[in-house]
Amino acid sequence: MGEAKYRRILLKIGGEALAGPQGFGIEPGRAFEVAAIVRQVAGLGVQTAIVMGAGNLWRGREGIQSGMDRATADYMGMIGTVMNSLALMDALERSSVITRVMTAIEMKEIAEPYIHRRAIRHLEKGRVVILSAGTGNPYFSTDTAAALRAMEIGAEVVIKATKVDGVFDADPQKNPQARRFDRLSYIEALNRRLEFMDSTAISLCMDNDLPILVLDLWRQDNLLQAVRGEAVGTRIASS
Ligand code: GTP
Repeated sequence: MGEAKYRRILLKIGGEALAGPQGFGIEPGRAFEVAAIVRQVAGLGVQTAIVMGAGNLWRGREGIQSGMDRATADYMGMIGTVMNSLALMDALERSSVITRVMTAIEMKEIAEPYIHRRAIRHLEKGRVVILSAGTGNPYFSTDTAAALRAMEIGAEVVIKATKVDGVFDADPQKNPQARRFDRLSYIEALNRRLEFMDSTAISLCMDNDLPILVLDLWRQDNLLQAVRGEAVGTRIASS
């Protein structure tokens, strides 16, 4: 097994990764599949922090479109990420990976509050740290939480794991002619409005020179290859 290129990564996993065939809810079997992928990477000695999304449980945007208060809808999403994080924690621990879940909104009976230096300490001790409840603030996406936490913990890359293998110039699931980018600059990503991440998250990475890697979580050994530095998915960086 090859050496890892990165010492510390921030992995953003969309909530849909845990969903069953209808794309909704939490399917324990799927959580185990995700855990197996994370285990491979942690097994390489890569310090791994994970930010979970919640799209499988609640889509704030739909609530807002139907007239719901934005902050309320966003808080519901944050709570959804805690449920997903606990499901992933359970699957990882049952796969013999030691984890710590932290929450950006205090709920001490369930998990540790997010404390930046403590998160780093957990990583140094080889624990997979699952960071939940987004940034703890409405109006910010879990992608932005991923970018923010990546910077705070000194991750060398933020890896957005999705179900498509990178960033395309059109939706590859709707348009078979869609072309995948191997590399993109932050500015190109912002100007083309490619929508693989929201602009706040991309801007934060650009301002702090943090590379983003977008890849397909489900393609065999894809994440493993990425942390070894092999070219997979799309890399978004300054050059
Ligand atoms: P070290 O200090 O590095 O040994 O870290 P540790 O996480 O092993 O120590 P600690 O004794 O703080 O935590 C033991 C367990 O309690 C871990 O599973 C933590 O996630 C959990 N834990 C720690 N603080 C809290 C908290 O505020 N709430 C909840 N629910 N669990 C906590």
